[in-house]
Amino acid sequence: MAKIVVIGAGVTGLSCALRIQEAGHSVTIIAKDFPSGFETIDSATQINFTSPWGGAHNRFILPPPGAAPDSQEAREHAMSLVTWEEMHSLHTQHPEAGITFMKAYDYFEAPELAQTSLTEEKARDKYGMKGFKFFTKDELPDGVQMGYEYDTWSLNPMVYCGFLLRRFAYRGGKILKREIREPLEVFEMKEVAPFDVLVNASGIGFGDPDVFIITGQTCLVANPCPVTIVKLNAVGMPTFNVPRGFEGGTIIGGTKIPNDWNPNPSLELREKILSNFAAIYPDILGPDGKFTVIKDIIGRRPARKGGMRLEKEIAQGEKCIIHAYGLGGRGYELSWGVADKVGKLLASHLGSADIPVRQVQAKI
Ligand SMILES: Cc1cc2nc3c(=O)[nH]c(=O)nc-3n(C[C@H](O)[C@H](O)[C@H](O)COP(=O)(O)OP(=O)(O)OC[C@H]3O[C@@H](n4cnc5c(N)ncnc54)[C@H](O)[C@@H]3O)c2cc1C
Ligand SMILES: *[C@@H]1O[C@H](CO)[C@@H](O)[C@H](O)[C@H]1NC(C)=O
Ligand SMILES: *[C@@H]1O[C@H](CO)[C@@H](O)[C@H](O)[C@H]1NC(C)=O
Repeated sequence: MAKIVVIGAGVTGLSCALRIQEAGHSVTIIAKDFPSGFETIDSATQINFTSPWGGAHNRFILPPPGAAPDSQEAREHAMSLVTWEEMHSLHTQHPEAGITFMKAYDYFEAPELAQTSLTEEKARDKYGMKGFKFFTKDELPDGVQMGYEYDTWSLNPMVYCGFLLRRFAYRGGKILKREIREPLEVFEMKEVAPFDVLVNASGIGFGDPDVFIITGQTCLVANPCPVTIVKLNAVGMPTFNVPRGFEGGTIIGGTKIPNDWNPNPSLELREKILSNFAAIYPDILGPDGKFTVIKDIIGRRPARKGGMRLEKEIAQGEKCIIHAYGLGGRGYELSWGVADKVGKLLASHLGSADIPVRQVQAKI
């Protein structure tokens, strides 16, 4: 049994911590921010903690035909399938985890090769999607060239992350609420040192010049919605909704703007985001024909030039760090794939046998 410290209690840190704990190690999570009731999370002080502000649903992003199996796109897709399976089993065994299964509708105004070359067989056999079906032209909203549906999950972020944190503590995990200034200081902290490996799941974190934010404005409304829709527009921001379930309302979105540090939502933009969504799914308005707004949200997706960082580093000749950050807009949907990879990197570092990895039928 090794002693492992995880920096970060967002979806990435929590998933990695649980996965490492399952492999039999003693784990401590250190973080500035922990999951708590979404209603009390303060955007003025916790805007850099992305996990509360995310949707969060799974939307499959299909690698283009011919993408190499080790390309970023193919690896991310494989991780999304691993996560789908894990979400399904968590949802089945733990209804209280905050996960809901429903249909995803993906609409494209300007489909690319990954979409135009798709068939129902490929969707099922090559991309591993379940419940896949194309929409006919007359089922599509105005201006949409093609669209399809499949089975997906959507979750209430703080209910889900609260579940992960509780499960971690219940299974003997230790928790330390601290802000870290210099990452390597953890190796000297009396509460945790000495330990074997540091896992860095710090999101926007500190100091990596390749890390940048992709800001999103969304609006949380009370209106329920039984499906999760993403419409990729030929120009401008996408139109989407993410039902949170568990009386968490529905997220309507939204923007994706790199390097925008403005923390203030725009009311004008809110109206546009809401009316764009109502245009493709009028049923969301309900019998009184309107949205009931709970909160405007600004979130900062922790992105990284060249993609996520998922690798081992030996610092100062002896300190082992496994990095797991830069998940951008996909932190939830890739979470269990990332946790599995971190588990493998750790097992190979420690020279121990890893616990069996979940089986999924990813053929790319
Ligand atoms: C509007 C919006 C919509 C989104 N929708 C989706 C979606 O539908 N599906 C999806 O999969 N993803 C979605 N995302 C992306 C997703 O929310 C993120 O990828 C994910 O939350 C990142 O999680 P993380 O654990 O890596 O980082 P974070 O949640 O930011 O966690 C970082 C952790 O590190 C800790 N930390 C950082 N610095 C320090 C320090 N100096 N000292 C101590 N602790 C520190 C923090 O306190 C925190 O605990 C969305 C994001 C936004 C903004
Ligand atoms: C968020 O992160 C940025 C960049 O590190 C920092 O300048 C800012 O003070 C942080 N905001 C909060 C509220 O912590
Ligand atoms: C952890 O990740 C952050 C980016 O989020 C980076 O700035 C920091 O240097 C990393 N910490 C360590 C100990 O390498």
